[in-house]
Amino acid sequence: MSRQAKRTLLQRLRKNLKHVIPPMLRTKKAREFAPEELQELCEFTGLEPEAVKEYLSRKKGRRISNEFDWLNPKNAPEYLWFYRGSRTYLFAADEAWDRAVELTEPGMKCLDFGGGGGRNALAMAAKGAKVYYVDIGLINSAFTKFRARRQNLELQVLDPLVQIDGRWVLDTAEAAKLEGGFDLIVCDNVLEHVHDYHLVLAKLAAALAPQGRILECTPFKREKAYLFKKKEQAWDIHLPPKVPMLEAMQACGMRRGEGEGLWERSA
Ligand SMILES: C[S@@+](CC[C@H](N)C(=O)[O-])C[C@H]1O[C@@H](n2cnc3c(N)ncnc32)[C@H](O)[C@@H]1O
Repeated sequence: MSRQAKRTLLQRLRKNLKHVIPPMLRTKKAREFAPEELQELCEFTGLEPEAVKEYLSRKKGRRISNEFDWLNPKNAPEYLWFYRGSRTYLFAADEAWDRAVELTEPGMKCLDFGGGGGRNALAMAAKGAKVYYVDIGLINSAFTKFRARRQNLELQVLDPLVQIDGRWVLDTAEAAKLEGGFDLIVCDNVLEHVHDYHLVLAKLAAALAPQGRILECTPFKREKAYLFKKKEQAWDIHLPPKVPMLEAMQACGMRRGEGEGLWERSA
């Protein structure tokens, strides 16, 4: 019998109330949009600012989850296909992650893995690092390329279509490994979107320079109780980890570095 089925109704009710009541009481603060970010999105998409704001504020019908439900991925290739073609992930742009920027030094070879709209890649490039970016999303990659050109920043966008054993496959981590020699690889809110993330991590570890480090921030999908909501989807926007992060890192020869989410080679 599954753990979910074993739970009593009271336990499920208690757990659900904890998840349902606080968000209902919370007053949602309207998001502020940086004028530059808005401008770049308008120019790239050709949309009017009002439409772009609707996507950015995730208005009903303009959400990542709407697009995900429409594509309804049922297996790993279909899951990858959602991210490959997603339009709505473009509107997840925000300020750069300060930790990624702090760890970046001029001249370093850095990779923004799953870099989305390029917020970290562009900030690291502005700091004088030699920055590479790879993302499965065609639109994200094109947008980031456009932003780099517009801001006069040097950025290498890696193509995730690579040849393995004579066959062309979509593999962002393999593309990173083929380039290799990175001093810093940033995985900001991406590994929870990747099927078998621990295998991806092994390739990223292999793409590091000898003293290279990985910085990750990974909000894996947590187990939820489903009393009021529809049943848990096997392929959701965030996936649960098959292996705990520490175990996955250790398996590819990495140990904890200084501070949350920083990993360095064990030897
Ligand atoms: C929540 S966004 C984070 C984007 C960016 N790192 C940031 O923090 O702004 C998740 C990103 O992961 C990308 N992604 C999903 N699957 C991927 C994969 N297999 N390899 C690389 N990127 C992937 C998506 O296209 C999306 O841009």
